[in-house]
Amino acid sequence: MATKTIKDMECRGKRVLVRVDFNVPVENGAISDDTRIEAALPTIRHLVERGGRVILMSHLGRPKGKRDEAYSLAPVAAALSEKLGQPVAFANDCVGEEAASAADALGDGEVLLLENLRFHKGETDNDAAFAKDLASLAEMYVNDAFGTAHRAHASTEGVTHHLSPCVCGFLIEKELKFLGDWTSRPERPFVVILGGAKVSDKISVIDALLEKADTILIGGAMAYTFRLALGGKVGDSLAEPDKVETARAALEKAKKNGVTFLLPEDNLVCGDLDFKGGSLGETKIIEGDIEDGWEGVDIGPKTIERYSAAVRDAATVLWNGPMGIFEIAASAKGTFAIAEAVAASDCVSIIGGGDSVKAIKQSGHSANVSFMSTGGGASLEFLEGKQLPGVVALDKA
Ligand code: 3PG
Repeated sequence: MATKTIKDMECRGKRVLVRVDFNVPVENGAISDDTRIEAALPTIRHLVERGGRVILMSHLGRPKGKRDEAYSLAPVAAALSEKLGQPVAFANDCVGEEAASAADALGDGEVLLLENLRFHKGETDNDAAFAKDLASLAEMYVNDAFGTAHRAHASTEGVTHHLSPCVCGFLIEKELKFLGDWTSRPERPFVVILGGAKVSDKISVIDALLEKADTILIGGAMAYTFRLALGGKVGDSLAEPDKVETARAALEKAKKNGVTFLLPEDNLVCGDLDFKGGSLGETKIIEGDIEDGWEGVDIGPKTIERYSAAVRDAATVLWNGPMGIFEIAASAKGTFAIAEAVAASDCVSIIGGGDSVKAIKQSGHSANVSFMSTGGGASLEFLEGKQLPGVVALDKA
């Protein structure tokens, strides 16, 4: 790998500024999913064990540059302290006197968490003065916030101009290995399952993966745009008629590259979708064209069988995006069946972040996959082949 890692750094007695992604769901002060905190632990423990003075910083939500207690990281400090089995100091602001004296007060192996970076507009603006203030708290820098590595913000890019060394932590190293190395030089057959609502959100990923995959399986509402591109009917299903040409070009590229590109042969359709109310009205399974008055909300049983068989035979599987509206139990079958097939397969299985990670956790199969990305947007941009500013800014190995 081209980036220096935390293993290349001697940190005893040094103040180390560590960007983590603690953007976790917090409701009324309670953290409902602590995956991202867990994912940051190896890096934090490594620094603690080696006598580093650890200063953690993160964003939480999008408070738009203003202080808003609903987005405070204080509950994360408490949760982290419990997981580490040691106190975690908390500074009410990420810059200024309180942050500086809390950083100065740290002893070797002690940990401090700074308040939400995005309480300051300078963070997302990558403001030079704000980055300098943050950097002044420490001597060295570690970025382990893979979920935010696609953002060129003060804490991911700006600070690197003032600190040395600037290295990545274990989480970023692992994400780059699985999303990068394992998908660039996959064990074959390499099967990619892509779902989600819009072709426009995923077209760059599809384009990049058409260079690497043996088979691409399409699910989610995105499949209806592809059906239109093949001259089929989709009834009232969510589709993007203005992206039909884009979908057609992808289908042609698949043919040219010899990639097996499968669309659902049957769908669960419903007559009266109420997403907020969690109901579908009347439902039925339709093969082929969908008539007006019906809306596709999940893949059907034949498709489940076919996609599961492809996953069973795969050596590497990459999955990004649900197969249907999995938030509603009646249309979650396809997504959960794919989760089960991926978990049951002996292949290297990589789950590309966001909704698919949520789905695989809900299905109870997360322990059986090789890797679940902590990045939503970051994992997509990386799979598209884009450079991640938070990684590019680090020291080269
Ligand atoms: C995420 O949740 O994808 C990351 O934490 C990045 O958050 P952002 O999209 O608000 O920058």
